[in-house]
Amino acid sequence: MKKHVILLLVLVLVISFAGCKKSSSDKLIGVAMPTQSLQRWNQDGDNMKSKLEEKGYQVDLQYANNDVNTQIQQLENMITKKCKVLVIASIDGSALTDVLKKAAENNIKVIAYDRLIMNTENVDYYATFDNFKVGVIQGQYIEEKLGLKEGKGPYNIELYAGSPDDNNALFFNGGAMSILQKYIDNGQLVVPSKQTEFTTIAIHGWDSAKAQARMDNLITAYYAGGRKLHAVLSPNDSLAIGIVTSLKNAGYGTAAKPYPIITGQDCDKANVIAMIKGQQSMSIFKDTRTLAAKVVEMVEAIMEGKEAPVNDTKTYDNGVKIVPSFLCEPVYADVNNYKELLIDSGYYKESDLQVN
Ligand code: BGC
Repeated sequence: MKKHVILLLVLVLVISFAGCKKSSSDKLIGVAMPTQSLQRWNQDGDNMKSKLEEKGYQVDLQYANNDVNTQIQQLENMITKKCKVLVIASIDGSALTDVLKKAAENNIKVIAYDRLIMNTENVDYYATFDNFKVGVIQGQYIEEKLGLKEGKGPYNIELYAGSPDDNNALFFNGGAMSILQKYIDNGQLVVPSKQTEFTTIAIHGWDSAKAQARMDNLITAYYAGGRKLHAVLSPNDSLAIGIVTSLKNAGYGTAAKPYPIITGQDCDKANVIAMIKGQQSMSIFKDTRTLAAKVVEMVEAIMEGKEAPVNDTKTYDNGVKIVPSFLCEPVYADVNNYKELLIDSGYYKESDLQVN
């Protein structure tokens, strides 16, 4: 009799444990972010986590220190833990084919976050900002500030591109060059270094220090004799920070040697401060709250067995298929509109942007 009771108790415990286990992974969503070293990804991660938790999901949020193998391991763990959906901002968009095969075998859906995941059929959706448009806005800013449409020039410009393993980098560059290339061709823009090829101007890992080192070299090699530098196309803020530091060290920022026009993207706090100080000219504001909210909508649709919302089914070919995408709108920010965009909207507090 006693034996039976114990057996029954064990049975009850096993069943309730299994039930418990089921419900804890049932609403588990994996969120894999590339790095904490850049402000925006921290915001993306925080926003995703809090918005998903508000909707009653559990979140496994991981950052991979920009290391591809770490990210793969984190994704493997998420698969083992039986996450239902993986939201991935990849480090190397082409390095996840094997791990995503495992995800598919386990019926786990995948949303590429901000950066497209390449060379796999096992990515279900893509949510991002219109990356080509980001580049177009940067190119148009340079076009307008230099009066290129009015035929002004020649002006000296140097070009940068983002990390070659990030598909976005190609789109940013394509967008910007869709505006600037004609002025290089007709001589209104001159690139003294002649470095215009994507592979030559790309900065691996979006690394500020590497952008700074390249600018140091450009200044020494091409601008030492007093040649003026009028503009630098920088695809994002982490590169812009390196470029500004290099120029500052070389004595730019005076009336005789003013900063060139420098573009950027992300509106990181340090870069908004650089805009207020007149070091960086503009940035692109991509409201990470909007992107996170859209991805949460996608997760919810997937969990309910429905189609997720998309607004583009043509643009993002990952080499295996065109990934249904939702593109959010990027907008342009500079010293004249940052208050309205960033402070009035509650994105930053005034105290976040203290110039010292
Ligand atoms: C993102 C940018 C970011 C860059 C570096 C890109 O994929 O779209 O917003 O500045 O990565 O992290």
